[in-house]
Amino acid sequence: MKKRFLSVLTVAVMAAATILTGCSGTQTAATTAAPAATESKSDAATTEAAKAESKTEAKAGDKKEIVVGFSQVGAESDWRTANTESMKSTFTEKNGYKLIFDDAQQKQENQLKAVRNFIQQDVDYIVIAPVTETGWDTVLQEAKDAGIPVIIVDRMINVSDDSLYTAWVGSNFLQEGYDAVGWLDEYLKKTDRADKDINIVTIQGTIGSSAQIGRTNGVEEKMKDHAKWKMLERQTGEFTQAKGQEVMESFLKTYNNIDVVIAENDNMAFGAIDAIKAAGKTCGPKGDITVISFDAVAAAFDSMIAGDMNVSVECNPLHGPRVSEIIGKLEKGETVEKIAYVKEGVYPADTAAAEKPKRQY
Ligand code: AHR
Repeated sequence: MKKRFLSVLTVAVMAAATILTGCSGTQTAATTAAPAATESKSDAATTEAAKAESKTEAKAGDKKEIVVGFSQVGAESDWRTANTESMKSTFTEKNGYKLIFDDAQQKQENQLKAVRNFIQQDVDYIVIAPVTETGWDTVLQEAKDAGIPVIIVDRMINVSDDSLYTAWVGSNFLQEGYDAVGWLDEYLKKTDRADKDINIVTIQGTIGSSAQIGRTNGVEEKMKDHAKWKMLERQTGEFTQAKGQEVMESFLKTYNNIDVVIAENDNMAFGAIDAIKAAGKTCGPKGDITVISFDAVAAAFDSMIAGDMNVSVECNPLHGPRVSEIIGKLEKGETVEKIAYVKEGVYPADTAAAEKPKRQY
């Protein structure tokens, strides 16, 4: 973007600079395209960028593709597959983009390498779906020094300086945790168990990821209002079906009084359901164990329709168009929202059959 922005506006900016010498502008570096370019490059580097740009554009007014480097977490879940698909189908040649896609296989070290590669390739934008929240300061400073805007998608990052990224779009994971507890509260009332002891286990996502932190904390916070609810144990299932199954098998061996399993994504819930059945127990609205999940992917609706899962709290993966909209605004030098939450719903089993045909993922 920094070069694109320069190429489109070099003449205008130079003219304006002549008139307004010393004027610093009013938009913040974190939210607009222009300061990201001007702040991070010295005058000499800026001239270099403008020269490099003029090499790649045949004549003024020609449209050049926007090069986006996207570092994806991995392919651990149905949600992730839908997210990758959303990004790949948005950042196409037809839409004016060249996408450089990197699958980090759930390892932050791979993401750091990918981002450094993107910087070397001098992409226009870096988009990161971060595995975990911490550990980003150094590499994002490198991106900033190179004048490349960074957009964070899905999970959040925890950095000492917010200007290291331009914008974030994703889910309110804490709210998702609250919603799960809100649903359970209502469900227990409806099934005449409001005053009963309720034993819960949680299969957590990747420890240190926003999705895990928000959902775990949201549930923990709201559980304080329910003196009769007890969290027996929490263990990570790394957001995968296989690990979810393994963790549930071990919970079932340790506890014979589990009333509720909270799986921090649908795939781990599918694994948990397999483990419950293999242990000779039942689950779902008519079963022994209530299954609460997150994501609301298509297969979760099938599971609810089959009577296995009780509820899935939505986590929307369709971020491609959202990121593209942010880039579109930055290209025009417009201000973008620094933080944008996606609106999400709660889908209990009794709504699954009616809702499934309306789902996009
Ligand atoms: O960050 C979103 C979470 O990551 C989804 O809940 C999960 O399925 C994915 O792996």
